[in-house]
Amino acid sequence: AHKGRLIVVSNRVALPQQTATGGLASAMRDALQERGGLWFGWSGKIAAQTAGKVHTLRDGNVEYATIDLSRRDHDDFYDGYANRTLWPLLHYRPDLVDYNRRHLDGYLRVNSLFADRVAELIAPDDLIWVNDYHLIPLAAMLRQRGVRNRIGFFLHTPLPAAGLLITLPRHRELLETLASYDLVGVHTARDLRALEDYFVNDLGATMQRGHRLRTSDGRRFKAGAFAIGIDTQKVAHDAAEAMNLEEIDSLHHSLEGRAMIIGVDRLDYSKGLPERFDAYAMLLERVPELHRKVTFLQIAPPSRSTVPEYRQIRRELERRAGHINGMYAAPDWVPIRYVNNSFPHSLLDGYYRTARVGLVTPLRDGMNLVAKEYVASQDPKDPGVLVLSRFAGAAQELPQALLVNPADPEEVAEALEQALSMPLIERKRRWRAMMDTLEKQDVTAWRQSFLGALME
Ligand code: UDP
Ligand code: G6P
Repeated sequence: AHKGRLIVVSNRVALPQQTATGGLASAMRDALQERGGLWFGWSGKIAAQTAGKVHTLRDGNVEYATIDLSRRDHDDFYDGYANRTLWPLLHYRPDLVDYNRRHLDGYLRVNSLFADRVAELIAPDDLIWVNDYHLIPLAAMLRQRGVRNRIGFFLHTPLPAAGLLITLPRHRELLETLASYDLVGVHTARDLRALEDYFVNDLGATMQRGHRLRTSDGRRFKAGAFAIGIDTQKVAHDAAEAMNLEEIDSLHHSLEGRAMIIGVDRLDYSKGLPERFDAYAMLLERVPELHRKVTFLQIAPPSRSTVPEYRQIRRELERRAGHINGMYAAPDWVPIRYVNNSFPHSLLDGYYRTARVGLVTPLRDGMNLVAKEYVASQDPKDPGVLVLSRFAGAAQELPQALLVNPADPEEVAEALEQALSMPLIERKRRWRAMMDTLEKQDVTAWRQSFLGALME
């Protein structure tokens, strides 16, 4: 085992006692708690100056070091380049990409401030693990500051096909900095192919044995697919425990024997929420016998709400939820319960277990941990059914889910109907197969295989 410290760097940090929504924060929290280490990132706060002071905190074997962002840096780096340029590009939405030089400058400026602060913390034996699209150039900037340590990068989003990547203005300057890492990790084999194809065919790199790439200027790095997991045992345990909580009891009572369908997503246009609402409406239209027999609970905490596209999707969903409820509700039945709040895992796991169907239909998603959490939360004696988009990374590992194209409301409605009437024996068979996978490929396995490859 490695002697040095693990230093994790990401924009979003799951500070203790905080509900941090997002797969990166959920998984990193689990991965670090077990291994111990230092987590460096944004405090989540806006202040007069970026990186004025480093806030530190210790919780168990995890040390936190966070910095504030100035309003301008927040707007240019986080809202601007990260979330209005890179996020839509990485999620196959070139129509939403908003590129400008000011945002790019802000992105580079904040990465450089991150590099200054992180460089001060590094000791010779430390392993550095940089996460996600906010911080792509960080290793190159750390190398400029003389850092020689092993540095790994993991991308938590999809990596789109090269043909789409090259539409980003100045893509080469940004993406060739990935070669300053020792290891670049993505979720799936498809993402890995896209990365290699882009480096070889667009940047003139050569491929060597074992996914090693050599750039035209002689830098070498390794690429790999590492599907992120959850803490499967803990989720299963917490879900069973949650059944004693008053909140879960109260949800259960409110259902009055109806089957519940659940969705849990940040309010993001990549999650396919309008299409999901339409598919549910189509189910109600096609199967009148289900009226008053089913309830759809959609939990959708607001995310990145100062970005215009996110405000728009919120308005759009309010309109659709209102429309569907107006159309189908009865004095004693509401078809959609639409909740713009976030919940801690201790409660979510109980909500998942209460639901007969988990409905996870992103248009694109790097992995999607909610799908995995839904499965791990089920009662083994009476498990629910997962309806899952083919375009979530999780679909590669969970072929026993009912896989759907989220853009086809008929197909999703049919899958819902099938899920709601699936016999116990089939539910058990599918669930067991998925659970076996999740037990093997959990968050510990993910961390160990990534760090193992980084240390090789
Ligand atoms: N989450 C949460 N509370 C909420 C909603 C979501 O803790 O109210 C968590 C959820 O349990 C999961 C993560 O946020 O662990 C979302 O990760 P996912 O990979 O599904 O999507 P992302 O938000 O990263 O796009
Ligand atoms: C996705 C991204 C993460 C991000 C999370 C929540 O999972 O891959 O990097 O932390 O969404 O988004 P936020 O903008 O609130 O950090």
